[in-house]
Amino acid sequence: MADRRTGGLPLTRRGLLTSGAAAAGALTAHAFTPASATAQAPAARSGTAVEPFHGSHQAGIATSPQAHAVFVGLDLRTGVDREGLGRMMRLLTDDARRLAEGRPALADTEPELAVLPARLTVTFGFGPGLFEAAGTVGLRPRQIAPLPGFSIDKLDKRWSGGDLLVQICADDPMTVTHALRMIVKDVRAFTRVRWTQRGFRRGVGIQEAGQTQRNVMGQLDGTVNPVPGTPEFDRAVWVREGPDWLHGGTTLVLRRIRAEMETWDAADRTAKEFTIGRRMDNGAPLTGTREHDEPDFTKLNAVGLPAISEYAHIRRAHTADPALRIYRRVYNYDEGLSAGGHADSGLVFASYQADITRQFLPVQRRLAEVDLLNEWTTPVGSAVFAIPPGCDSGGWIGEGLLT
Ligand code: HEM
Repeated sequence: MADRRTGGLPLTRRGLLTSGAAAAGALTAHAFTPASATAQAPAARSGTAVEPFHGSHQAGIATSPQAHAVFVGLDLRTGVDREGLGRMMRLLTDDARRLAEGRPALADTEPELAVLPARLTVTFGFGPGLFEAAGTVGLRPRQIAPLPGFSIDKLDKRWSGGDLLVQICADDPMTVTHALRMIVKDVRAFTRVRWTQRGFRRGVGIQEAGQTQRNVMGQLDGTVNPVPGTPEFDRAVWVREGPDWLHGGTTLVLRRIRAEMETWDAADRTAKEFTIGRRMDNGAPLTGTREHDEPDFTKLNAVGLPAISEYAHIRRAHTADPALRIYRRVYNYDEGLSAGGHADSGLVFASYQADITRQFLPVQRRLAEVDLLNEWTTPVGSAVFAIPPGCDSGGWIGEGLLT
């Protein structure tokens, strides 16, 4: 009997085998066309691509987001003081510099894994506890402290806090794993791992460079965001006030936000669009037709209600002054399924800004107060770090604070 799944062919073992062979033949033929040979080329090049390590800012923030990331939160061991921290940061800087350049770390046990840096960046941050250990509490910006609690939070200690942050990003998961192993080996004498959070974005070459990515909830995520290389980005992200040692650095608020995928699946498209205030297909605001159209928050719909709800995520999160915006460099996470088939996925939400108090907190407060999206998202982790400025070839990260 003809079967729709087989395009009218009888569904027999033999039929499956023949159609399988035909498919394999088609694949082989395709594999040898010049078009697919060209398609391979960018992937091969991306393995050797290098992001500069040296500069006035640390790499990994203004860097176009790589496909894979791991964020590691570490706690300092008892007795590690300023001198020890200085030694540790010299070692870590050396590791990060070598690995970013595609060279093995000192005493690298698998040097072959270091040769494809795939745009590797290793970025370091200092949590509140590090300043106490270093005896530099007076140099800790007030904003480098745990965030106040929010009613929406269901924070788990195993995703929160930390004295030292290492953020490793690259376009290849093997590169990330190798860098992580080298770094953790070198800091073992000084620290204990508190948490590890892995994240991913679209793979290299999957979509046009510069296109907004989709998150695990299917939304275009990152439309309204300061653009690296613009004066707005520089004003919003790099620190110019407060203690000198942090000038040229920034701050990171890292929130782990679980997405309630099963109830999200139950919401229809209209509800999903109403929640964010943007269309699911092309990310256009509900008052426009294209992704980058300016949302019109004054527009009313046919029944006289705001076309973008008062409680929609983009209205609640919007900051009019570009200098006060946050820079979201967001990764997805997916920890697989539980035995019962339930998903554990969401966002490793990384927000960089010059000033947490003036930029991040007002947005987070508004969202915690009311945001339709809260129905489907739950913050389960929270950590805050100062990200020191970059260094030149003779320097090391954190030198301004720790010498
Ligand atoms: C799982 C949690 C979250 C999801 C899925 C999510 C998703 C989105 C989406 C789809 C947009 C619209 C497109 C865009 O402009 O990027 C957006 C915008 C935005 N989100 Fe979120 N978001 C989440 C959490 C947060 C949090 C915690 C903050 C800050 C505390 C935040 C701040 C913003 C800002 C500032 C905008 C741009 C608003 C504007 O149009 O001016 N989001 N988010």
